[in-house]
Formats: sequence, structure tokens, C-alpha cells
Amino acid sequence: MMNAKVEQALNEQIHAEFFSFYLYLSVAAFFTAQHLDGFSHWMRIQAQEEFAHAMKLFDYLNERGGTVQLMALDAPQREWASPSVAVEAVLEHERFISGRINRLVDLAAAENDHATIVLMHWYVGEQVEEEAIADTLFHQVKMVEDSPHGLLMIDRELAGRALPAVDTAEG
Ligand code: FEO
Repeated sequence: MMNAKVEQALNEQIHAEFFSFYLYLSVAAFFTAQHLDGFSHWMRIQAQEEFAHAMKLFDYLNERGGTVQLMALDAPQREWASPSVAVEAVLEHERFISGRINRLVDLAAAENDHATIVLMHWYVGEQVEEEAIADTLFHQVKMVEDSPHGLLMIDRELAGRALPAVDTAEG
């Protein structure tokens, strides 16, 4: 039987991960419109990762006998002033998600829900990685923003991102 507070918090996190999926797709569409197809590809791959993050929680809730409650998604932002502003928005969003994950760990600990703590540790590690990658990308884009040549070099590099195998095993 799931702890009701943890169940609610996990449903809210599923919602946050699906919103992340939506936000990355919106950033991908923005970059496609800018003819930066490598950036767009990278954001689409990240959107797929976010979908997998949501589904990992979805599967976990079901396995624990909880009830999945999907909520409406807000429309994400569609326009940004420049490529670096779009990447910065992604970085800020990942920091926001990290805060949510940390609070979820605190809640699971307060409620003595050890299984959820173990699961959420996977997300803690994932957030460290995602923040670091977004931070590096933001600083690199900022460095070259006034040079189309530099921006195209990064675009070419981002075009090579492959979808990593996401660990969907229960934590
Ligand atoms: Fe699911 Fe990018 O955090």
C-alpha cells in the first residue's frame, strides 16, 4: 500500500516530467525554425529521455499498488530571444526539477518509504548529469553566439547525439 502523500508527490513528479518532455519538444521546434537542426535533434532526444523519466515513475506507482493520475499540461514557451537564451531556459528548468526531486527524497524519508528513496536516488544522479550537460552547452553557446561559424560547429556536434538506453528497471 502506497503512502498517500508520497503517491501524490509521485503523481506530481510524473506531471513535471511530462512537462519537461513538452518543453524540450518546444525548444526543438524553436531550433528547427532557426535552421539549427543539430540543436533541434539534441532537444528531441532529450524530450524522449524526459518521457522515459515520466514512465519510470508511472511503472513504479503501478508496481507499488498506487494510482497514476495524469494531469493537464500547460503550453510551454515557444519563442526565445536567442539560442543561448533557449539553452539557458533548459538549464533553469533542470535546476527546478532537481529541487523537486530533492524534496521528494525528503518526503519519502520523512514517511519512511525506503523503496521510493531508492528509486529517487536514480533521479538525483540523473539530475546531476543533466544539469552539468545543460550548463556546459549554455556556456559553449554563449561563447560563440556572435559567430555563426561557431554556432554551426556546435550544431554539427549536437547532431550526433544518440538516444541512450534508459534504465527502466524499478529502483
Ligand atoms: Fe527528467 Fe531532465 O529531468
